[in-house]
Formats: sequence, C-alpha cells, structure tokens
Amino acid sequence: MTDKASVDLHGAAQTMLTTLYLKALDADFDRPVLGDRYAREAIGRLEYDWSDLGITRRWAPLVTVRSAQYDLWAAQFLAAHPESTVVHMGCGLDSRVFRLDPGPGVQWYDLDYPAVIALREKIYPTRPRYHLVPASATDPAWLDRIPADRPVLVLAEGISMYLTEHDGVALLRRIVDRFPSGELQIDFYNWFGIRTQKTHTLVRRSGSTLYWAVNRPGDVLSQVPGLRLLCAVPFFDASTFHRASRAFRVARRLTRVVPPVRRSLQYHRYAFGPVMLHR
Ligand SMILES: C[S@@+](CC[C@H](N)C(=O)[O-])C[C@H]1O[C@@H](n2cnc3c(N)ncnc32)[C@H](O)[C@@H]1O
Repeated sequence: MTDKASVDLHGAAQTMLTTLYLKALDADFDRPVLGDRYAREAIGRLEYDWSDLGITRRWAPLVTVRSAQYDLWAAQFLAAHPESTVVHMGCGLDSRVFRLDPGPGVQWYDLDYPAVIALREKIYPTRPRYHLVPASATDPAWLDRIPADRPVLVLAEGISMYLTEHDGVALLRRIVDRFPSGELQIDFYNWFGIRTQKTHTLVRRSGSTLYWAVNRPGDVLSQVPGLRLLCAVPFFDASTFHRASRAFRVARRLTRVVPPVRRSLQYHRYAFGPVMLHR
C-alpha cells in the first residue's frame, strides 16, 4: 500500500506532469533556473513512473526559463498592486502561489480541468485567500465566480496552444470585458512551434494536439480590443534565459539565423483598462 496520489491523466491535462517533472529536476541542479523546491516535493507525493514521460534533465530550461520569467513579471504586478486578484489559468501542478507567497491583499485563483484540480488538492496544502477553480478555461461560466472589484493579473502559461484560435480569442475578450483593469501574462507558440508539434515528446506522449499559433503580438492585439502590449520576448531573449545551460546558450546563437525557430516560443505581457500612473 502507498499513500501517494495516483495519476490518471490524458491529453492536454497530462502535459503538466512534464512541466512539473522538469521543474523538480531543475531544483536539484547546482545552478537551478527556477529552484522550485515545491515541485521536487510534489513529485514525491505522486504515484507515477516518471520515465514514462520520456524526458531528461537537459530539457529543463525549456520550462524553467518560462516559469522564472512569469514569476518575475507576476511579482512586479503584485508589487504594484498589493490589493488585487490573480487568476492562474492552466495552473497544472505549478507552485507559483507558494513561490510568490502573495500578501494579505491578494485573492489567488488556480484554474485547470477538474481532474488536475483534484490532484492539486491531494498534494498541496490550502492557504488563506487561495481558491481552486475546476473548470475548462473556455467555459464562460467560471469567470462569473471571480470578483471583478480589483485589478486582475491573468496568467496563462503553457495553455494557449491547447486552445483553438476561436476559443482562445473568445476567452481573452471575455477577460478584458469582465475586469476593469489588469494584466494578461501569456505565452504562445508561433506557426513553426505548432507545425513541428509531432517532434515534441510532451505532445506525442500525452496524445495532445496543439492548435493556436501566434506569430507576433499584433495577432492578439488585432483580435482583442482593449489590450495594450507591455512586452514580448522569445524564449531565447527572456530575462531569465542567462541561467540556462550552455547547450541552450549555444542554440541561442545558432537560431539567430533562423527567425521562425528563434521565435517559436514567445512570452507576452499585456495591460488593459485605464493607464495607471504609480508615483
Ligand atoms: C503544459 S501544462 C502547463 C502547466 C503549468 N502552467 C506549468 O507551466 O507547469 C498545460 C496545462 O494547461 C491545462 N489546460 C489545457 N487546456 C485547458 C483548458 N481548456 N482549461 C483549463 N486548463 C487547460 C492542462 O490541463 C495543463 O495543466
């Protein structure tokens, strides 16, 4: 008998096992990119044969550079908005709420499919002002449960590509309509990332399909009125990339001459609502 939580996930929901596992491996590096000790502890609470993922530690920066970049941007938002709401869509088993440990003025909502949220409940403790939302992000009903009385940070890391463009755009429009002001921090694959999806171990092993390609911020801005671009960087230019392994730093040099590859993974940051000047 074991008291570990068993895992039975398929398709897009299963992909968060790979991101969790790579974060756990990174935590044991001499020079971690993210240093997520919660991920390391979490994998020990799950009954799962991690070799089934077919992924090794050298790929960890693909995930940890991104999570570290969004931790940084989210921390900036929280510093500027100590009274705010965070909605973390497609949270998987990511431990951001523990890593950032937001103050008493922040209500935090972690949203994912019900099967993923059920697993979260088994392996992470609860905390004050922390809420779990078991729903598909594309279901319009969950938004009504999120109070719209404060600035909101909507985080969507590693989820957009699993949505169709139609559903993704509709979701972003609903978010901008629902909240008076806030930020949207979201990552995308470009056409190259989507077209080469069968070469991604994570996609193949999970049986998931990637749909929505975004090549530049203009693709989003032209379809979601009210958004303003704050920043957009490809994986290789993220401010957290310098912590990645030497192999990735070499790849960075090589991809300079192949722009679609260089821009295959993009991190975007948008604002909406009235422009707030902080003194
Ligand atoms: C690649 S994982 C990323 C997990 C986490 N954000 C991270 O970086 O570790 C993708 C996550 O998006 C979730 N997801 C995909 N489509 C979704 C949808 N329509 N509604 C809610 N969650 C979704 C999956 O269940 C999974 O947890």
